[in-house]
Amino acid sequence: GPHSFKFEVQNMRSPQSLVNCAQRTGHFKKCWECPGCELYVPGTQAKIIPKAAKSAADVVDTRRTHSVLDVMDLEDSVAVGEKEIARKNVIQALKEVDFGKKTVAVRINGLYSHHMYRDVVDIIEQAGERCDMFVIPMVGNGKDVYMADSLVSQVEEFMGRKKKIGFGLIIEATMGMMNIHEIAAASKRNESLHFGVADYAASTKSRTTNIGGPNKLYGVLTDKDGDKARDFFWGDPWHYAMARIVVAARANGLRPVDGPFGDIADPDGYKAQCERGAALGMEGKWAIHPSQVALANEVFSPGEAEVKQARRVLEAMENAQKEGLGAVSLDGKLVDIASIKQADAIVKKAEAIAA
Ligand code: GLV
Ligand code: MG
Repeated sequence: GPHSFKFEVQNMRSPQSLVNCAQRTGHFKKCWECPGCELYVPGTQAKIIPKAAKSAADVVDTRRTHSVLDVMDLEDSVAVGEKEIARKNVIQALKEVDFGKKTVAVRINGLYSHHMYRDVVDIIEQAGERCDMFVIPMVGNGKDVYMADSLVSQVEEFMGRKKKIGFGLIIEATMGMMNIHEIAAASKRNESLHFGVADYAASTKSRTTNIGGPNKLYGVLTDKDGDKARDFFWGDPWHYAMARIVVAARANGLRPVDGPFGDIADPDGYKAQCERGAALGMEGKWAIHPSQVALANEVFSPGEAEVKQARRVLEAMENAQKEGLGAVSLDGKLVDIASIKQADAIVKKAEAIAA
């Protein structure tokens, strides 16, 4: 059937969590060496997969900073009647397309569907070792992760596969959000948690038909007895979900990645959403259009001024510690030993991107 071209890109920066991932799965080291952007292509788009591989590579060339994760989708961008052909396309692409040094992933179908076991078995049995990761949708609890791990392990063992497949887990159902800590810790294959905001909104019955945008219902009208004219402030309806994902991911050494923002025609809105994610600790954000890639890259790379300030904090604290002090004032503000950790994370990230 006809499919409109749709792909989803994620941008990621990941110093420490990539090291953790490297230790876990052994294969993520290359991401550490050249950090991240994930490109989602529907598995039905056989002709577009090589182009996607190439267009993602453009992102790498211009930025020199991203490990690129190509994600071929077998789940929600593929209609039910096209699952088999999409899977065949993906297997063929894994064997034939030159993905360069990129990390290559497949978003398999969820455990709720019989397409899932066939995705796992056929890809591992037929597509060689080029698939690095499975992105797993609709994860509900730790047992879901165990089931996927167990199935993957059996097929890997049967095939004598050398490189273990890593997992990116999409938190997008209420059960998954409830059981997020157990999910994050459920497998050594885990590498990242992703906020599937579209399915999450559906699952919570949020009053929206947007994907990942703000909501005019979600605001505060200032008190009618206040001194000034009343104001209406928009809030972020996704704050709780994002913060919960960041905490669960970081606590387990995984990368938290924010989900899609559907309004392609609103780059300012997209950028503001990226910035809120970055402020909370998100490693990156999906994009559903090439125009969103540069915006995410910009936001998720620490800026020059930010890095400079972080280096000043480190310097101030180095001098402080030489004098036996744990805290000093810098520009009239307190900095202490926790400031070293904050600043260090920013400097390390910038260095990894520049490397
Ligand atoms: C992604 O899968 C989403 O539901 O937003
Ligand atoms: Mg989804």
